[in-house]
This record gives sequence, structure tokens and C-alpha cells, in this order.
Amino acid sequence: MNATPPEPTTARATAGAAGTAEPTVLELGLPQPVRDPGLPARVRIHEVGARDGLQNESALVPVEVKAEFIARLAAAGLRTVEATSFVHPKWVPQLADAEELMPRLADLPARHPGLRLPVLVPNERGLDRALAHHAGEVAVFASATETFARRNLNRSADEAMAMFRPVVERATGAGTPVRGYLSMCFGDPWEGPVPVDQVVRHGLALLEMGCTELSLGDTIGVATPGHVNALIDAFTRSGVPVGQLAVHFHDTYGQALANTLAALRSGVTVVDASAGGLGGCPYAKSATGNLATEDLVWMLHGLGIETGVNLAALAATSGWMARHLGRPSPSRTVRALLGPTA
Ligand code: HMG
Ligand code: MG
Repeated sequence: MNATPPEPTTARATAGAAGTAEPTVLELGLPQPVRDPGLPARVRIHEVGARDGLQNESALVPVEVKAEFIARLAAAGLRTVEATSFVHPKWVPQLADAEELMPRLADLPARHPGLRLPVLVPNERGLDRALAHHAGEVAVFASATETFARRNLNRSADEAMAMFRPVVERATGAGTPVRGYLSMCFGDPWEGPVPVDQVVRHGLALLEMGCTELSLGDTIGVATPGHVNALIDAFTRSGVPVGQLAVHFHDTYGQALANTLAALRSGVTVVDASAGGLGGCPYAKSATGNLATEDLVWMLHGLGIETGVNLAALAATSGWMARHLGRPSPSRTVRALLGPTA
């Protein structure tokens, strides 16, 4: 029996320049796009690899590597690339270089029209730092559960909301849009099940204080599609336009893509994902990487949904980053396109 399977006849490889660390990407001319009329024509991907991904790395990634990572993500066609967090540097040492990173990104929006580079801010101190570095968009991050609020933000869920209120008011007053993240929407590692009405109450609080978008976080990757439908339905029944909702799935139990499809069928058109499947939260036990952007793009392009993303360039970027991190990407699509050691 032939030990090596034959290459698909349509396959061709896009190689980087000889002698560089640039990975080689298999181009198959696949997937074949087949439209599903029940799904949106276009999805905006909110790329979180440089923030959610790198915040969880044990090794510190040099600031110039982060800047190149973000530049490459923008060059691959992503138009919302979360850059970093202005949190307490002792709480997230991996992102303590936010002040050094921002000036290195300054020319990107001119090179890529429409590019947005949001940053996370937990409080007014974080907002001051972000605005001093010309952040055009910020995000606050609340918790649907008490335990995670205390672990992640050092205060109760309601105290955290009180901390965010002046941030949202000041930012929106200055013309800076604010995204609201809500974590533990589908289950919590300490508290177990999280009632849907509890999630809706906290989500509405973020929207009422002025957040323009609400990202529903499955921080530990435990959601399943029926639960996703039920939560989105509960928000829309509470008067929230589905256009204000985004979904943020971690992929711990391999459900992230199925959950995303369920959210798209419910009318959501903004999906968070992380290049190469990097990610996790240092303050959430059992949080693994986010839904990999490449896996998402493969599915969306197969459904004929526009993303603006060049999948080969994106996979090459994740392969390049995997080499910097010294371990293979967990993304199935990256491994299929670049080989298992990517
Ligand atoms: P605290 O210790 O309660 O802070 O931490 P504090 O308000 O008591 O202030 C203590 C000192 O910290 C003060 O300094 C402040 O100035 C300073 P002192 O006066 O004693 O010299 N300080 C700061 N310094 C720099 N930047 C700041 C800042 N704030 C205070 N922004 C705090 C409270 C919120 C700051 C802390 O708990 C924190 O930074 N937490 C961040 C945790 C984090 O980043 N987690 C990961 C992101 S969330 C996530 O990943 C989930 C998500 O992906 C969605 C999902 O998956 O579900 C978004
Ligand atoms: Mg996350």
C-alpha cells in the first residue's frame, strides 16, 4: 500500500521566500461555496488573537512580534483586530507592553482603510491610558457570574458594572465607541449552570449604560447550539436588536463552530475568533483557545458568506506565529493547510 496519500489534483502550494521562516500554504481552490438562504451574506469577524490569544501565553511575546502579528492580520483582510488591553500590568503581564505596542500600530489604519483596532479597558485608569495612545475604540468586560467577576476584576458583578459606567460615559462622550463583553454566559467553572435571565440582566445593563455592541462570551467553551438559540432569543425578546449582538466562543469542547452556525441562523453577523485558535483567560479555570479564525473562515466561505479575509494569508500568519510560540496551532484548518507541525 502506498504510504503517502496522493495530493488532491487541484492542490498547489504557496511558498514563502526560500530561506525564510514563512510557512507553505496548500491552496486547494476549496471549499466550494454553496449559499444557504437562511444565513447572512456577510459576517464581520472580530479578531481577538493578539489580545485574548496572547494574554494567555506563558511566554512573553516581544512587542515587535505582536506588532507584526497585528499588521499581518490586517494585511490578511481582517478589519477589526483587537490589539491589546490597558489592564493592570500585574494582572496580565503578557499585555503590560500596551503603551509600547500602540505607536507601532499607528500607520495601519491609513494602510488598511476601515481597520479598527479596539483595546480592552477595565476602568477609568485604563481608559486614560487607552485615550492617551489614541485608541479609536474600547471594550469593557463584565461577568454574568459573581465568582468570575471577583476573580477577573476583584469586585462583585454589580461593583464591576459601577466601575464600567464612567468609562462608557466618558468614552462615548468623546466619540469613542464601546463594546461590552459579557463572560460566563453559558456556564461557569465555579458556579456551574448560569440562568439565561441572569445573563440577560447583566447584558442589558451594559447596553443601557451605552455599549454599542454586546459580545456574549462562552469563556470556558461549554455552550451548545440550543443554548445559543435560547440566549439570543431571550435578548431579542427583551428588545435588543440582533444587530447589536456578537458571539465569542472558546472551543474547549469542540462546539464553537456549531454554536457559531446557530448564532448566524438567529441573525447574528459579528463573530469573535482568534487566529490559529490562540486564547483563553488567565482567570478562568479550563478556558482554552477561542474558535480559530481559519476554521470560521473555511466554514463561512463554504457557505458563500463574505468575510474579506484571504485565508491563505491568514493561515500563513498563524503558522508564523506558531513558530514564534514554539508549538503547533490547534486550528484544524491551519494544520490542514500548513501541515501538522504548523
Ligand atoms: P484592583 O487591584 O482591584 O485595582 O484591580 P484598584 O482599582 O484597587 O487599583 C489598585 C492599583 O492598580 C492602583 O494603583 C491603580 O492605579 C492601579 P496605586 O494607586 O495603588 O498605585 N490600576 C491600574 N494600573 C494600570 N492600568 C489599569 C489600572 N487599574 C488600576 N487599568 C483591575 C482591578 C480591574 C484593575 C484588575 O482586576 C485587572 O486589571 N483585571 C484584568 C483581568 C483581565 O484582563 N482578564 C482578561 C480579560 S477578560 C477575558 O479574557 C474574557 C473575554 O475574552 C470574554 C470571554 O471569553 O468571556 C473578554
Ligand atoms: Mg475570551
